[in-house]
Amino acid sequence: MTTVLITGPTRGLGRATTLAMAGRPQAERPDLLLVGRPGHALTDVANEARTLGATVHEIGADLSRLADVRAAATTVREMLDAGVVRPLRALIANAGAMTADTRKASADGYEMTFAVNHLAHAQLIGDLVDVLDTPARIVLLGSNTYHANFWRRLLHVPAAEWTDPIDIARPAPGSAGVAYSNAKLAVLYYAHELQRHVGPGINVSVFEPGWMPGTALGRDTPAAVQAIGRAIARIPGVATPETSGPQLASMALDPRWAGLRDGAFVVRDRLTQVEPVAVDPERERRLWAATTELLQRRSMKY
Ligand SMILES: NC(=O)c1ccc[n+]([C@@H]2O[C@H](COP(=O)([O-])OP(=O)(O)OC[C@H]3O[C@@H](n4cnc5c(N)ncnc54)[C@H](OP(=O)(O)O)[C@@H]3O)[C@@H](O)[C@H]2O)c1
Repeated sequence: MTTVLITGPTRGLGRATTLAMAGRPQAERPDLLLVGRPGHALTDVANEARTLGATVHEIGADLSRLADVRAAATTVREMLDAGVVRPLRALIANAGAMTADTRKASADGYEMTFAVNHLAHAQLIGDLVDVLDTPARIVLLGSNTYHANFWRRLLHVPAAEWTDPIDIARPAPGSAGVAYSNAKLAVLYYAHELQRHVGPGINVSVFEPGWMPGTALGRDTPAAVQAIGRAIARIPGVATPETSGPQLASMALDPRWAGLRDGAFVVRDRLTQVEPVAVDPERERRLWAATTELLQRRSMKY
């Protein structure tokens, strides 16, 4: 069996996915590397997963600090070298944030939403891609908010407004919703480009859990909006971490999804064509170059 690394396991979708993986029958249960902000929530989910039978390692990291991300990757590499964990076959880049104030900077000076959703994962994946044991899967977290539709217009959820990634990464006054949608469009562009850089044994896909109102992703929104979200979450058929978590676990583990690559986009449990705006080789190449620059990497390990 194998090891799966997941970021953001402390709540919402990441927590549900972690417990779904831990709760699988022994023959299908991976060892788990939980990369999350250190503290009670990380310890609690690790203990809960252990209670279900999983072998779990907690790796504390604040993803808004690239130094933490690099240290987490070093820890993983050391564990793999020492044979402390079984081969790493899947990486789920789940952690996400939607920071209300787009002037807020990460520890490295980048707009917080872009830093956590995209840059942190690009760093982590860049540092670990050469220790993935093939066949391996990288599953990134997208969101349909990258494009507008009737419902999102009605609910005033803004679509992405793509500009040069160096500008997107700059903290500045702006719309939190646009910043989030830009970060999630970046995830799609990055997934397409990442697939072109990794070896043939590594498959890159993107999961969209469906709108899960009431998770802590909306923690910066007014209390009334959060209360409405929690109420909508109780409507039958609306996605929740409990329904989407097992689907994300399936993306990382099940034969059903083994052939997914090239940033294939799965909404809940359905392979879905992305909108034309989300496939743009020129933007994808530019994002890759800008990401390299923003991470100040001297060499990528691809
Ligand atoms: N909710 C939706 O409707 C929806 C729809 C489409 C896509 N998604 C995506 O699904 C993923 C999970 O979202 P969710 O709804 O489960 O959100 P959530 O409940 O807020 O969970 C987000 C997770 O990311 C972690 N995280 C955020 N900032 C971090 C940081 N600086 N360092 C380390 N960990 C950090 C959180 O850790 P802490 O507990 O330490 O904050 C938490 O574990 C995200 O990528 C999101 O964009 C969500």
